[in-house]
Amino acid sequence: MQQRGSKIWGMGSYVPDKVLSNADLERIVDTTDEWIVTHTGIRERRIATDDQACSDLCVPAAERALADAGVSPEQLDMVIVSTVTPDMTFPATGCLVQDRIGARNAGAFDLVSGCTGFIYGIGLADGMISNGACDYVLVISGEVLTRITDWTDRSTCVLFGDGAGAAVVGLAEPGTGVLSYVLESYGQHGDLLKLPAGGTRQPLTPELLAQHENCIRMEGHELYKLAVRGVPEVGETAMEKAGVEAKDIAWVVMHQANKRILDAAAKRLGVPDERVVVNVDRYGNTSAASIPIALDEVYREGHMAPGDLVLLVGFGAGFTLGAAVVRWDKVPYTAED
Ligand code: ACO
Repeated sequence: MQQRGSKIWGMGSYVPDKVLSNADLERIVDTTDEWIVTHTGIRERRIATDDQACSDLCVPAAERALADAGVSPEQLDMVIVSTVTPDMTFPATGCLVQDRIGARNAGAFDLVSGCTGFIYGIGLADGMISNGACDYVLVISGEVLTRITDWTDRSTCVLFGDGAGAAVVGLAEPGTGVLSYVLESYGQHGDLLKLPAGGTRQPLTPELLAQHENCIRMEGHELYKLAVRGVPEVGETAMEKAGVEAKDIAWVVMHQANKRILDAAAKRLGVPDERVVVNVDRYGNTSAASIPIALDEVYREGHMAPGDLVLLVGFGAGFTLGAAVVRWDKVPYTAED
């Protein structure tokens, strides 16, 4: 039997049209454009309209990825949506998207790994394809973070935005696409980033709603320290597993939380700034969606050449860390069983 590996066959993304600038935020909370830019690098972010839920962002991203891959919805074996902002707790947003895109032969589920969700999705897809369970897996990361943002908390509300990114991961000759991945969790740091109320621990009450406990709570400074240390470590591990070095990497696509984290992590990884993809200035932190949105942009702008090595690195709620090394290879491949 022929060996099975996986690669990214197609990419797509979608962000809402509505822009919220730092100047707009100055009118909502006690902040300044200067503070936001110097502390985060963010200048503006996209906001979903009131009638847009997570699946509404995921569907166009998914359709673009399928079109790019030349794969029909019926060919999909699995639909994974990674999100911390599903349409509702259940049914899974993955199932809602599976129905709406017409992936009638696919299973579907949601994956909750915070901002590392896309990397977890790539790892799962690679596993399911390599072991023969699936030929095509659609990995979508979509978030409507502005719906769980506390607009009275200036330390968080300036950070987040909405969007979705998707990848069709499909069968490939081993060594041509996903070369390695590392998925880590440090649950002891879970309290640093959470949505406290609305689960079974603290069901929603009018009092909790009044205290905005249904919104993101974050210890930004502690997360910053974990990210700056953890991102280079997990990136190094993924490169070692793939048998490549920082000098071989064409593009580093990291979770876009803060430009200062991107700069510090890139320096520790030994990757020059011009090879680090940055779009946090235009979209803010879109959690799990940030890596596929950034990857899709750099690809669609024509900067990706066949054979390029891409290092993906994520970090986020959990606390989770993850990294993957992917060779950019969009030549179709069909394994003979
Ligand atoms: N405008 C003006 N002043 C502000 C604002 C604001 N929006 N927010 C905070 N401040 C003030 C604080 O009150 C504080 O004032 P004080 O010194 O008088 O007490 C001062 O600015 C410094 O606050 P810090 O929290 O120490 O600011 P810091 O430089 O750490 O930046 C930030 C905060 C941007 C949140 C940073 O810590 C960060 O990016 N952390 C990582 C976030 C992250 O990566 N999250 C994990 C990813 S998970 C996910 O992406 C969903």
